[in-house]
Amino acid sequence: MEEEKLDTLSPTQPSSAPASQSAEGRIIVIANQKGGVGKTTTAINLATALAAVDNKVLVVDLDPQGNASTGLGIETARRTTGTYDLLLGAIELERALIETCVPGLEIIPSTIDLSAAELELVDLANRESRLGAALNCAKKSFNYVLIDSPPALGILTLNGLVAADSVLVPLQCEFLALEGLSQLVRTIDRVSDRFNPGLQLEGIVLTMYDVRNKLSSLVEEDVRGFFGDTVYETVIPRNVRVSEAPSHGKPVLLYDLACVGAQAYVELASEVLRRRLHKKDFDYTTLAGINPMEIREKQ
Ligand SMILES: Nc1ncnc2c1ncn2[C@@H]1O[C@H](COP(=O)(O)OP(=O)(O)OP(=O)(O)O)[C@@H](O)[C@H]1O
Ligand SMILES: [Mg+2]
Repeated sequence: MEEEKLDTLSPTQPSSAPASQSAEGRIIVIANQKGGVGKTTTAINLATALAAVDNKVLVVDLDPQGNASTGLGIETARRTTGTYDLLLGAIELERALIETCVPGLEIIPSTIDLSAAELELVDLANRESRLGAALNCAKKSFNYVLIDSPPALGILTLNGLVAADSVLVPLQCEFLALEGLSQLVRTIDRVSDRFNPGLQLEGIVLTMYDVRNKLSSLVEEDVRGFFGDTVYETVIPRNVRVSEAPSHGKPVLLYDLACVGAQAYVELASEVLRRRLHKKDFDYTTLAGINPMEIREKQ
């Protein structure tokens, strides 16, 4: 049934999709240290939309809350191994993969031990690059690897940033949104300087957009003013169906494909694919030219 539902994506599906667009897969970390801005929702639904157009996709749940695992219907009983084991080097990548209800989409789930990883990693060698080392070969088997990170800039998120080719930032249009963004920009800048010089900004996606709220459009104006076309044209609207889907263990694309939230994620996937196809990657060095203090003053 779910496979049938996904097949109906065709009318609006990203048209420039093909899985074979590049020999190597791309690792994208979904990051924002602010909680509840739509990181997990974006990871799950962007992954689903990419898989729906024949990409092989992997979601890595790097958050001890395990929301991406829950939202993709992985019950606790199936989470015997996961990201924690990868970080500790206790398991090979292939053994950590679990199939989801979405054809072509696999996940490395979060297990309860992941909350202890922060402390355990402190004493280990190369503590910031352990996820990257573990995911190294994933780029051969997957077109896209999406890492869902926790709402903090600690060692787990650092591992995500070091492992990734690029960062996708979900940004909720609310008061002080740019303030948080300036902190993230500084962190990405440091990570790029010290650990991962190739790190790029994949894009910024505005989430939970409320057309009735004037603040949404004001924040949008500021963010687009600063970051230009790094900000996706697609805006994810606030939509109750999106918030209902995780409790059914399904991406909203399977829960209610026709709703505006699901369609926005299909559009977002289309933009992600188009940018990559046209090699319109946003080199991080252009972002480094932006002064975080300037962003702050704009508040
Ligand atoms: N477009 C949307 N419309 C309505 N609700 C949404 C939307 N996007 C996300 N939500 C809801 O908002 C809450 C936070 O979203 P989500 O879990 O994706 O954020 P997060 O950034 O991953 O949070 P955390 O920082 O805790 O990991 C969830 O209950 C989710 O279902
Ligand atoms: Mg989350």
